[in-house]
Amino acid sequence: MKIQNYIYALTMIGIAYGLSSCGAGADNPGYEYAPQMYNSVAYEPLTQIDNEQEGSWLSNREDGKGEFYNSNINNPHKMNMREPVANTVPRTKDGSLPYRLKAFELEEAAKIQNPVALTPEVLAQGKILYNQYCIACHGANGEGDGKAGEVVGGVANLKGGAYINLPEGHIFHVIMKGKGRMGAHGSQIPQERIWKIVHYVKQEIQKQ
Ligand code: HEC
Repeated sequence: MKIQNYIYALTMIGIAYGLSSCGAGADNPGYEYAPQMYNSVAYEPLTQIDNEQEGSWLSNREDGKGEFYNSNINNPHKMNMREPVANTVPRTKDGSLPYRLKAFELEEAAKIQNPVALTPEVLAQGKILYNQYCIACHGANGEGDGKAGEVVGGVANLKGGAYINLPEGHIFHVIMKGKGRMGAHGSQIPQERIWKIVHYVKQEIQKQ
C-alpha cells in the first residue's frame, strides 16, 4: 500500500472518531480527549461524582476507586461544598460583613461609624496605608498635590473647605466605591484597613 493510502486511512479513522465524539447528550459528555483535564482530582465544589467506579478503566488511585470519583465522605450526602448554615451571612476575609451599599448611596454610608478603635498603632498603620494608596494623588499633606494627581487632575484637597467636615463613613465609602474622577479601591484594600486610613485622614491630615 502506498503512503497516501495510509494517510487516507488514518484521516478516515480520525474523522470517524471525531464524529462519534459528537454524540453528546445531557447526561453523556461524549468521548473526551484527556479526560483528567475535565475531572479534577481535587474536590470540585460544583461537580460531585459519587459513583466509586467512575473512570476505573483509567485509575491508578491508591484507594482503588475510579479516577473520577470525587466526593467528600466527611460531609452530609458526600457533598464537596457544604451549604452555609441557614440565616447566616458570610464574612469577608478580615471578618467584616460584606459591604452592600452602591456607589450612589453616599448618604446612607455617611451614617456608618468607624468600627476600628482609634489607637496610636492604628494611626501609624493608617499613615503607612495612606502613603501606599493615596499619596500619589492626594499628596503627603492631603492637599491634592501628588505627582500622579497632576496627571489625573481635579484631585480633592482634603484640607479644603468642603471636605474638612466629611463624615468618616463618607470617606470610607469614597475609598471603597470611588467618586467622580477617583476610582474605587474596594477590591484592593480590605475594609478594616480602609477604616484605618479614614482615621489617619481625619486625625492627622484634617486634624478633626
Ligand atoms: C488616582 C488618583 C487618586 C487616588 C489614588 C486617590 N484619590 Fe481620592 N480623589 C481623587 C480625585 C480626582 C478626587 C476628586 C473626585 C471628584 O469629585 O471627581 C478625589 C476625591 C477624594 C475625596 C473627596 C470625596 C468627595 O466626597 O468629593 C476623598 C475623601 C478622597 N479622595 C480620599 C482618598 C483616599 C483616602 C485615598 C487613598 C485610599 C484616595 N482618595 C486615593 C483621586 C485619587
